[in-house]
Amino acid sequence: MGYQIAIDGPAGAGKSTIAKEVARRKGYIYVDTGALYRGIAYFLLERGIKADEQEKIIEVLPDIQIEIRYEKRKQEVYLNGNRITHKIRTEEVGNMASKVSSLKAVRDKLLQMQRDLGNSFDVVMDGRDIGTNVLKDANVKIFLTASSRTRAMRRMNQLKRRGLNPSIDEIERDIIIRDKQDSTREIAPLKQAEDAIRIDSSNLSIREVVNRILKECK
Ligand code: DC
Repeated sequence: MGYQIAIDGPAGAGKSTIAKEVARRKGYIYVDTGALYRGIAYFLLERGIKADEQEKIIEVLPDIQIEIRYEKRKQEVYLNGNRITHKIRTEEVGNMASKVSSLKAVRDKLLQMQRDLGNSFDVVMDGRDIGTNVLKDANVKIFLTASSRTRAMRRMNQLKRRGLNPSIDEIERDIIIRDKQDSTREIAPLKQAEDAIRIDSSNLSIREVVNRILKECK
């Protein structure tokens, strides 16, 4: 088994930025598990299947082959042989992923794959249920949060850099909806593992959070 660092937390808390940097500093592999759920969501959107069409979703799941490959140490996501790494980074795909990730069949499909990655490499894995479910025995577990306002501000700045002019209140509202969806679902909801260290990143820099996590790895 490799060394496992699990980072969970709500959307927009900075998990991927932090996890990537921790992985780089340790020379570990970064596994973004949200991308797997996004891959399934992307497929369903392409097929015009809605989040509430459970039976249809279950029927098409066997047609979905999601793969993670590491190219130049970077995670690339493949859907049925096609690279979709960048196509899955939209709000639409994220919202759909949040909805369909509540289905047991969807979670079951992705669980073993995540465990296999965690057992084959030294990893920093981020998601919602890594410390509570996927890698229950992870060496270090972090629960990374930030206030919904802070997360909305960060998201707004990202969108502004892309030339958009979004409303902060709308973004915050979407974030609150997503938090609720992710933390109230029945199977493997977003919650802090008992043995996880809670870090609120609202008033911390990326570097401060990364250093804090590295200290826990010693
Ligand atoms: O981290 P993200 O925004 O890319 O994740 C998209 C959705 O996928 C998230 O809202 C809930 C779901 N997800 C999950 O249920 N379990 C995980 N380990 C990772 C993501």
